[in-house]
Amino acid sequence: MSRKIHLLLPLLLVIFSASFSLSFSHGVHRKGMPKISSLASSRPYKIINVDDFGAKGDGKTDDSKAFKSAWNKACSSEDPVVLLVPNNKYLLKPMRFSGPCKSDQLNNHRILRIKGTIVASDDRSDYKDRRHWLVFEEIDHLRVEGSGTFDGNGKIWWQKSCKINKSLPCSAAPTAVTFIRCNHLRVAGLNFLNAQKMHLSFQKCVNVKALNLKLTAPEHSPNTDGIHITATRNIRLSNCTIGTGDDCISIVSGSKNILATDITCGPGHGISIGSLGARNSEDHVSNVFVDRATFTGTTNGVRIKTWQGGSGYAKVIRFLNIIMNRVKNPIIIDQDYCDQKKPCHEQKSAVQISNVIYSNITGTSSSKVAIKLDCSENLPCQDIVMHDVNLVTNHGKDDDNVKASCENVHFKRTPRKVFPSC
Ligand SMILES: *[C@@H]1O[C@H](CO)[C@@H](O)[C@H](O)[C@H]1NC(C)=O
Ligand SMILES: *[C@@H]1O[C@H](CO)[C@@H](O)[C@H](O)[C@H]1NC(C)=O
Ligand SMILES: *[C@@H]1O[C@H](CO)[C@@H](O)[C@H](O)[C@H]1NC(C)=O
Repeated sequence: MSRKIHLLLPLLLVIFSASFSLSFSHGVHRKGMPKISSLASSRPYKIINVDDFGAKGDGKTDDSKAFKSAWNKACSSEDPVVLLVPNNKYLLKPMRFSGPCKSDQLNNHRILRIKGTIVASDDRSDYKDRRHWLVFEEIDHLRVEGSGTFDGNGKIWWQKSCKINKSLPCSAAPTAVTFIRCNHLRVAGLNFLNAQKMHLSFQKCVNVKALNLKLTAPEHSPNTDGIHITATRNIRLSNCTIGTGDDCISIVSGSKNILATDITCGPGHGISIGSLGARNSEDHVSNVFVDRATFTGTTNGVRIKTWQGGSGYAKVIRFLNIIMNRVKNPIIIDQDYCDQKKPCHEQKSAVQISNVIYSNITGTSSSKVAIKLDCSENLPCQDIVMHDVNLVTNHGKDDDNVKASCENVHFKRTPRKVFPSC
């Protein structure tokens, strides 16, 4: 225990420095009317209901216009606003909820409260922008919450994916819900279902909390990452249950100060940092902290993946208190990642991986190699720490047990209580 606290404290201090204080000062919110905590918002919340703007909520009629008008009203309000989506099924074509909103600078919260289901059009010709279904952009102090569901209705996109049908050309598919440049954002309680591609993406946001979310898609659905984090700082994910066809959480370039606690992952590809360094890019990810996660039946557990030929770094990374159930690659660093049709060739440069701690990781591996640290020959992994790791086979005790494969790894100190060992 004391060792754990020892580990946690310095990092927590880094992560929870001043930058987080604002987003954590939100009042506790209860059922019904939100409690107002900020000084500026002493006025009552105004309720705006999408039904009053003509939304039908029958799951068939296109309600995009009604949502757009309701959003414009909410965004131009001087007062704190709750934009209410009642417990019906609303069909939306791709649309953007854009800011900046009026009196953003007063810290007025705008709350999108979703009780029902928002379902995506499955007519591919509706998607002029092939990469997005719903986009929230440049909105400060936004909260998106409720017990409702974003349903990406993704089946048609999966069928047309080149990963499913190899005879089809590869083409873009939309991310279901994307937040771009939203600061002091909170996303809570919601369900994300069957996204066309990724379910939920945070892009260039600062100070984000995402909690109590559930993200679900079939195991075979292609590229349906749960939560994707790109160029985003100070983000806290907690109590999320993610089972999709791709990464439960993927963290890519420009992201730092990421804390993920109490994550349940599976099926899917695990929690990934990367891929980084694709097409010789310079990528940076730092201060990623995964504490208390359970992986079940996933292809990877905790993974760092980089392409050859990239540059930049992935550093200060902690994977703590993790349970693996039948995971194919429970612990993996892959600096030779190659996700393309033609083979990747040998290159000299690499993304530098350093200061990674693996601690208290236990459970079962469904493949022979439970620990695979495949680091770059030219830029070996530095300052790796591993202790209290115990991974065994899930094939019963008669089988040969698991092994570790480690290449070009420089440990900071000798791994302690680690099985299998390098
Ligand atoms: C794959 O795509 C081709 C070309 O559109 C189509 O003819 C074929 O039926 C598809 N296969 C499956 C299994 O959907
Ligand atoms: C975790 O999230 C679920 C919704 O996915 C919720 O029902 C549950 O109460 C949350 N647990 C905690 C401890 O907040
Ligand atoms: C190890 O991690 C598991 C799973 O999160 C947790 O229940 C347990 O208390 C941890 N052990 C220590 C010594 O922290």
